[in-house]
Amino acid sequence: MTKKERPDNRKLDEIRPMKMKAGVIKRADGSAQVEFGLTKVVAAVYGPRQIHPRHQEDATKSVLRCRYNMLPFSVSDRKRQGYDRRSTELAKVITEALEPALFLEEFPKTAIDVDMEIVQADAGTRAAAINAASLAIADAGIPMRDLVTSVAAGRANKELLLDMTKEEEDAEDAVDVPMAMMPRTGKITLLQMDGIVTPQDTEKIICLAEVGCKKIYEAQKKALLEKYGS
Ligand code: CDP
Repeated sequence: MTKKERPDNRKLDEIRPMKMKAGVIKRADGSAQVEFGLTKVVAAVYGPRQIHPRHQEDATKSVLRCRYNMLPFSVSDRKRQGYDRRSTELAKVITEALEPALFLEEFPKTAIDVDMEIVQADAGTRAAAINAASLAIADAGIPMRDLVTSVAAGRANKELLLDMTKEEEDAEDAVDVPMAMMPRTGKITLLQMDGIVTPQDTEKIICLAEVGCKKIYEAQKKALLEKYGS
């Protein structure tokens, strides 16, 4: 299965070339830039800090507030500035993917703010954003149970694939399964599916994503080591 090749000559279970760097925004408490092929995202983290507006305060825990935004020049049809239904949904699922890794109850009455800006999009932006956010949270020194690691797997042109590009996602039979996990325990914190697929192929797709997440985990740890040493 790994022998067949794709438009960009990758193997079916191969992730696009990855670049990861922690600490790219001087004024944020923590930050990171992550690239998967042409998909490029920057994440910045602030907090735990006093929460405004105050009515959002929770006496039992910190409130994790994520923002996902696609810059107008990130896609081929210039995108209208600002948030829309898609970015609101993605902010929600990304928040839920990151929350299990954090000790929010340790910082009551505060907010942890995570801003993710999609600089360039070629599919897989939610996964890239989760990887960048998780690195940025670690870079901010916020305690974590584990890094959260994410990739999408799926189907295009009758093949099961890891980390699809937009060209592959546009195939008629495309199935897109974004997944996030905490690799140390194997806990899955995000699992979505767009498209119709058999239960057997669903299992294979999840296995592909799991193997992908483990490779991404190594790249995330390397990025942190590059900044903080061994
Ligand atoms: O980016 P991700 O795969 O997590 O989410 P999606 O909603 O499945 O979007 C897939 C891709 O469609 C994005 O990565 C972009 O390349 C493209 N897209 C676009 O060109 N214009 C938009 N307004 C939204 C998405």
